[in-house]
Amino acid sequence: MENAIKYYEDVDSWKTIMFLYNSAIKEVGTKLDILNDEFQHVHKYNPIEHIKTRVKTPDSIVKKLRKNGYEISIENMVKHVNDIAGVRLICSFTSDIYRLAEMIGNQNDLKVLSIKDYIRNPKESGYKSYHMLVSVPIFLSDSVVDTKVEIQIRTIAMDFWASLEHKIYYKFEGNAPEYISRELRECAEMVSSLDEKMLSLNEAILECLREQEELRVSTKRKEINHTNRVAISGLR
Ligand code: GTP
Ligand code: MG
Repeated sequence: MENAIKYYEDVDSWKTIMFLYNSAIKEVGTKLDILNDEFQHVHKYNPIEHIKTRVKTPDSIVKKLRKNGYEISIENMVKHVNDIAGVRLICSFTSDIYRLAEMIGNQNDLKVLSIKDYIRNPKESGYKSYHMLVSVPIFLSDSVVDTKVEIQIRTIAMDFWASLEHKIYYKFEGNAPEYISRELRECAEMVSSLDEKMLSLNEAILECLREQEELRVSTKRKEINHTNRVAISGLR
């Protein structure tokens, strides 16, 4: 990219832009860490299993601009490549995804620019994930620059499928035989039912724990009442 940029813009502005995207990832990453810690503090539960971040490589930026028919320039890259800064949130259950998306949407200083819900509307490939394009203000010494970050939220199972599918499919450069695409879609369905099963198992376990706790509390209350009654009758 730097070679390509040399012809069109100066390298300094390329470096400044990359500095902004790196800063945006740090800002969003810290926000998400804090949300996760607060959730752990209040609900004794972590919605985020782990966070992956990356800045798109110069080669991929150029490839994407070419693929979409844009000239290679810094202006076009900032305007048309939305995933230069990428943050991926991996969580345990599908319900965590919507909870996190809501928490992100409620952050006053993040602007949600667009949402793609590939969980309710999976891609033809079988791909599932929740994408949010947000912008975060980066405070510099003399200005504030809103910088775009693509946040992908998915379960461990969705991430497992997407990572392997990307590896396999990549080899075919988009021209995979039909039976391979079909089997990958079937794998995506298996992954979805695994997610559903894990979610309902988790709900059943939570319900079971709640009932046990209620039973423990009511037994304790009965014991206390009984002890009090014995003590009072002893006084009479
Ligand atoms: P890209 O040019 O791929 O970035 O697509 P887009 O700008 O139309 O955005 P979209 O929301 O469709 O996809 C953005 C990102 O989602 C990709 O860069 C991948 O990380 C992921 N993604 C989308 N579709 C698939 C898929 O079929 N398989 C896998 N493994 N990942 C996908
Ligand atoms: Mg992408």
